[in-house]
Amino acid sequence: MAGTHDRAGSAQSGGRLAVRCRGIEKSFRAGETRVRVLRGTDFVAESGRMSFLVGPSGCGKTTLVSVIGGILSCEGGEIDVLGHDLSTMRNGRLADFRLANLGFIFQQFNLLPALNAEENASLPLVARGESNGRAERTARGLLERLGLGGQTKKMPSQLSGGQQQRVAIARALVHEPRLLICDEPTASLDAASGHTVMELLRDVALEGDRSVIVVTHDNRIFGFADRISHMADGRITRTESREDGVSQ
Ligand SMILES: Nc1ncnc2c1ncn2[C@@H]1O[C@H](COP(=O)(O)OP(=O)(O)OP(=O)(O)O)[C@@H](O)[C@H]1O
Ligand SMILES: [Mg+2]
Repeated sequence: MAGTHDRAGSAQSGGRLAVRCRGIEKSFRAGETRVRVLRGTDFVAESGRMSFLVGPSGCGKTTLVSVIGGILSCEGGEIDVLGHDLSTMRNGRLADFRLANLGFIFQQFNLLPALNAEENASLPLVARGESNGRAERTARGLLERLGLGGQTKKMPSQLSGGQQQRVAIARALVHEPRLLICDEPTASLDAASGHTVMELLRDVALEGDRSVIVVTHDNRIFGFADRISHMADGRITRTESREDGVSQ
């Protein structure tokens, strides 16, 4: 497995590291004490690959991807995302960095109920300063590719769970992020919709050499993993990669 790291953060080819965390420390206050959730956590994710993060509830998966996504700050360790040191990045720059480079998909689709599908999917482009019309045109094209060509004007309440998740995927991809972070993306879906969503993530997200991190409990989708990092009690305890025989 290639271990070279691109400090400049320029376009990376498959196998290069998109994310490298070393010795991450994160704790939360619990009453009078603090609970250490990430305990010197090491984690990597490559470009052009699907990296799964699995482990029991409460072991720190969402906390780790939130740190990687710049949503939470950490208290110690090194965190390098797409060649940038997040731990020293100031808030304003971090927000711009996230908008330009990262996409997020959560278990709850978090669509805005008052906006239709193409308006929801266009939000990252609008946040970046594109006109509504142009952003919606781009979003419409992506929704069509995701099989929602006939649904672009529908409100979230008029869409099925699987269709809503596809709108959320379009929203996460519309600005062509280089790192896509998915936290339980199939947990609310039946087996068939979950499979379709993972195929879309694999096909659409991995084109352009994106890195995709998938947090999941859902062993029905483990076959999509190029790499599985097992987490327990705030640390990665074991990593399997496809080359080592991740079961397909
Ligand atoms: N904002 C917070 N304040 C206090 N404690 C928190 C906070 N966020 C998470 N925790 C605690 O940190 C621990 C890890 O939480 P985290 O959400 O990362 O787990 P997880 O592995 O994603 O679990 P699940 O599979 O259930 O989603 C838990 O004990 C949780 O209660
Ligand atoms: Mg979680």
